[in-house]
Amino acid sequence: MTEKDFLPAPYQHFSDGGKVTWKAPSNIALVKYWGKLAHQIPANPSISFTLDACATTTSVSYQKKEGNIGGFSFDLFFEGKPKADFKPKIETFFGRIEAYLPFLKKYHFAIETSNSFPHSSGIASSASGMAALSLCLMDIEKQLNPEMDEGFFKTKASFLARLGSGSACRSIEGDLIQWGEHPKIPNSSNLYGIKYPFEVNPIFKKYHDTILLVHKGQKQVSSTVGHDLMHNHPYAQNRFQQAYDNLDRLKSILADGNLEDFIKIVESEALTLHAMMMTSMPYFILMKPDTLEIINKIWKYRNESNVPICFTLDAGANVHVLYPESVKEKAIQFIQDELVVHCEKGHYICDRIGVGAKK
Ligand code: DP6
Repeated sequence: MTEKDFLPAPYQHFSDGGKVTWKAPSNIALVKYWGKLAHQIPANPSISFTLDACATTTSVSYQKKEGNIGGFSFDLFFEGKPKADFKPKIETFFGRIEAYLPFLKKYHFAIETSNSFPHSSGIASSASGMAALSLCLMDIEKQLNPEMDEGFFKTKASFLARLGSGSACRSIEGDLIQWGEHPKIPNSSNLYGIKYPFEVNPIFKKYHDTILLVHKGQKQVSSTVGHDLMHNHPYAQNRFQQAYDNLDRLKSILADGNLEDFIKIVESEALTLHAMMMTSMPYFILMKPDTLEIINKIWKYRNESNVPICFTLDAGANVHVLYPESVKEKAIQFIQDELVVHCEKGHYICDRIGVGAKK
């Protein structure tokens, strides 16, 4: 599909108003998206596990405006309180998606949003937040165009979410979502996420992600600044190629349930992401001493016990500890005994692979 396929035909109905609510999960990338071109086109393909517990719930009330003039009109409430500092991001988002949702200027919107995870956890809510908002807007569009089919609804929600935040396009469905054109992945697209189309071993269907909150403060580098660092980055082309190759390699690994090789790719991707930040200009170190302590402890424990537990990282200091259902008790015991001490105030979040957003 191309951008044009998301431009709607004239609407058949016009509702005066209503309210819709969606809950969308966060996701954790196995092969990372880092670097983008204009219009939120990723520099390389990525793949993620959709999460379950970490989610954003958004309600959008909409009411027809008098006349058809003026710009976008909306109020924004975060966890029950007006949130003026989120408004510019939504304004930019509406500007990017207006051509695809021409009803946007016809309504006044009240957007109420809240996260299942604490605001100050250092967990980015842009993926779940933009996914939930896009689903609400699609729900409104479906009322104006009731014939829309389910598949198109989800694909367009992912397309819109991407224009809000790249990784958000991987937060509409579960459980393993791929985004970005790859010559060997049929139907892969730079415009939206797709369900991973190849065989996936049952071991990856029940995977856990325990998120260790090492540092709950604001991110030192916003993702927009971060992606920009890949322009003129000395290692950019090799890095992008590596992401293509890792997606290639994952095909048989995911089918066979080869955890040893899965771990190699996932941990290497996390460290490469941080290596890109350390070798850009300007340069950043986003890991904290506790991040490194955790990584070293995971390596030691895995070597000694053969329990297939591994880590991945986002663009921050928190650590995502990944492990299959079969070693859940052992992994949780190890996390509590050895790793929680490295978390800010001992806080961590137990999450797992999930099935996607819900109305
Ligand atoms: C490190 O999706 O937050 O989490 O498109 O600028 O909103 P924008 O970036 P964003 O970048 C996420 C980067 C990452 C890796 C990943 O999720 O693939």
